[in-house]
Amino acid sequence: MNESRPLQGESSVAQHDVIISTCEDAPFQNIGHKARILSPQEAKKLAEDQISVSDFKQAKLEKEAQKNWDLFYKRNSINFFKDRHWTTREFEELKTCREFEDQKLTILEAGCGVGNCLFPLLEEDLNIFAYACDFSPRAVEYVKVGENVLNFKKLDLLILNKVSLLCHIFVCQVLKPGKCVLFRDYGLYDHAMLRFKSASKLGENFYVRQDGTRSYFFAADFLAELFLSEGYEQVVNEYVLRETVNKKEGLCVPRVFLQSKFQKPQKET
Ligand SMILES: C[S@@+](CC[C@H](N)C(=O)[O-])C[C@H]1O[C@@H](n2cnc3c(N)ncnc32)[C@H](O)[C@@H]1O
Repeated sequence: MNESRPLQGESSVAQHDVIISTCEDAPFQNIGHKARILSPQEAKKLAEDQISVSDFKQAKLEKEAQKNWDLFYKRNSINFFKDRHWTTREFEELKTCREFEDQKLTILEAGCGVGNCLFPLLEEDLNIFAYACDFSPRAVEYVKVGENVLNFKKLDLLILNKVSLLCHIFVCQVLKPGKCVLFRDYGLYDHAMLRFKSASKLGENFYVRQDGTRSYFFAADFLAELFLSEGYEQVVNEYVLRETVNKKEGLCVPRVFLQSKFQKPQKET
């Protein structure tokens, strides 16, 4: 993307030690409402996974979530995630939702990391004003540096600490009728979910990595319930299935993402 931010990291995979070498840009893709069908071995593996992490450890992970992500960025700086150049391809509304050609779009990215999603988007479309937040102060600092290097004067950073709830409330309350939330995260039965050892299971579809960061694998109906209960309408809520090639091991692995769009109704009900 640019010389100042050399990004050679692995793709955004849920278990950081994974050695997948191509990424979500891979050409094969399948979109649908149904979760990936597991092989008998995979189904058996998941069925046998028990939650063995103690309540004490669970509470500690929750308390230290922010610290653990911050340490992640201390170790990896900006070198872990690849820039995501597919955002406008996957979310066409980022281009098409303007009411008139020169309309400036205002977006908020919750959990922006070091800007791998945001910077390519801002490079591609100079008519976007972005707010971004992340609970890792280090990640936010990296975004600020990138902002200076790239001269994105339009980027205005909001640091919301300890915020998944606040962010959620912020997004839900601030959005005006007709505005929407674009969502993309790991989907149910993603390859990374199957790779977790049983001892890493924290709850249903919820796992902890070795570095203490946690990963949730979203089921479409679960996400829909969350948004509908906040008064949103579902526009799109689909699994995106991809095959990613691990060149080193000659393996092809199934990646699953949940990709969704929820909209604040035009008129409050
Ligand atoms: C997998 S990274 C994705 C970063 C970025 N969205 C991207 O596409 O590259 C997830 C990010 O979410 C942030 N995060 C996780 N939980 C958060 C929370 N409760 N509040 C704010 N940020 C959070 C982490 O610090 C991390 O930077």
